[in-house]
Amino acid sequence: MGSETTLGIIKPDAVQKGVIGEIMNRIEASELKIVGVKMLQLDKARTEGFYAVHKGKGFFNELVTFMTSGPVVVIAMEADGAIAKWRQVMGPTDSTKAPEGTIRGDYGTDIQFNAVHGSDAVETANFELGYFFEPHELVKYEWM
Ligand code: RTP
Ligand code: MG
Repeated sequence: MGSETTLGIIKPDAVQKGVIGEIMNRIEASELKIVGVKMLQLDKARTEGFYAVHKGKGFFNELVTFMTSGPVVVIAMEADGAIAKWRQVMGPTDSTKAPEGTIRGDYGTDIQFNAVHGSDAVETANFELGYFFEPHELVKYEWM
């Protein structure tokens, strides 16, 4: 598979619920290694740029309102096959269909308020990581 870096976001609903630590625990309990973290308040323009692939979809405006409704935590994570691994830890998009034991199953509410974001492919991961992190802001571990 090979080493990959993916971008996760703890969305405003999860920050408001006070489960940043719980979600960080899930990451640390998986094989994903945290290599960058920032807390941010997104504005409309930055969110629209991040979600440009969804522009024109029915849920786009709601999504932007949601993502700007409070602070988020952006997290860079590295592992073999990190992109798929993180999506597995998150669970499916619709929280009502996400199994117990996944982040969305345990902390999400529905298809929109679903607690976390994850990149879905190598190209989108590179775009999304670059959207929030300068290369020098991602750390390297001696033991990895
Ligand atoms: P994400 O990008 O946040 O990791 O989620 P995803 O790939 O599982 O879902 P995606 O299709 O990329 O949608 C991005 C986010 O938009 C919101 N959404 N709302 N109301 C709706 O039908 C709807 N569909 C998607 C969710 O917050 C979703 O994570
Ligand atoms: Mg997506």
